[in-house]
Amino acid sequence: MRPKPRSILEMNPASKINQIRRRLLRWYDKNRRALPWRDTQDPYAIWVIETMLQQTQVKTALPYYLRFLTAFPTISSLDRAPLNRVLALWSGLGYYRRAQNLKKAARKIMREHKGKLPQDYHALLTLPGVGPYTAGAVMSIAFNQPFPALDGNTRRVLARSFNTNREKDLQEIDKRLVSPSRPGDFNQALMELGATICHFRDPTCPACPLASTCIAKSSGIFPSQIGPARGRKVKNIEWPLALIQNNGKILLHRRDQNGLLEGLWEIPGGERKARETVKATLARHLKGLGQRARPVFEIGEIRHSITYRRIRASLFFFPGYRISHLPNPDWRWVAISSLRRYPLSSLSLKAIKLYRPRALKRRDRYNLIVNSS
Ligand code: ADE
Repeated sequence: MRPKPRSILEMNPASKINQIRRRLLRWYDKNRRALPWRDTQDPYAIWVIETMLQQTQVKTALPYYLRFLTAFPTISSLDRAPLNRVLALWSGLGYYRRAQNLKKAARKIMREHKGKLPQDYHALLTLPGVGPYTAGAVMSIAFNQPFPALDGNTRRVLARSFNTNREKDLQEIDKRLVSPSRPGDFNQALMELGATICHFRDPTCPACPLASTCIAKSSGIFPSQIGPARGRKVKNIEWPLALIQNNGKILLHRRDQNGLLEGLWEIPGGERKARETVKATLARHLKGLGQRARPVFEIGEIRHSITYRRIRASLFFFPGYRISHLPNPDWRWVAISSLRRYPLSSLSLKAIKLYRPRALKRRDRYNLIVNSS
């Protein structure tokens, strides 16, 4: 009879687990980045940033976090805010479903938990948008409870340290590792190590506090899992855009409420179908506006990626395009100075920056808008 394979915990004695935990925390105490959410105990703020940091890097999320909390300092203010305003503040961060879920969850928290984030892992999991990662992060960082929080970075560190790609092993080992006395610091230390040292490509092993016990380091074999878009093939897409101007305003269109990026405003345009000319694609997306689309010249091109889609978007300028009336409220003329009030898709933000590099730079005006309604 073949011997039963040893479990990941049998292969890693308590002494090794304790050593790794200690080394990681010591390293974190010396090297932690000073980040604003590390100075707060507010569970709401921690929930917001942990939601932002799913699929987004710290340096990108940081200004969004500050603006979001200035605009919506409490769960109740988030609940009362119009969705459009919440999306406008999310504009450029991508994955807008996260913002919609935060808002839906705020409503549930107001109704069912007296406006306070529940201090219970399973209750957190019932909130829209909260999965095991976010629930674990909030429980450990905000409530000091020993719950693991596995994300892309922590998975990579553990996969390399313990030489396993199996999800079950990673969960078992993380549960054992998490510090009972400093769970929030422990989880953030693991995230920090993944983000700053144990990079996906070219990890800086000489600076790593776990190098001496890391199996990937000693064997030279780095588990290959752990890329961003695991297993899904990248799809290249062409997405022509129509920049239509009238009296200093540009024409925006609101996306369908049901599909991808629902409800966001954007420069009209869309995916080019196979065997369709760019002109025909634009005509299809401008149908209903009363005039045939005549792309006149191309201003430039933008590259953008959403999940597994790699988008190439050419921006076409339409001088002299006359529209007598807009067919429905999903079309709107918007002054450049008011664009910041609109939840724009990231692709449209890039297109506007290409066309008017200074148009969206005015943070002062932006904050005024945020604080004024
Ligand atoms: N990534 C996810 N959560 C994080 C946190 N709290 N600090 C740093 N990086 C993170």
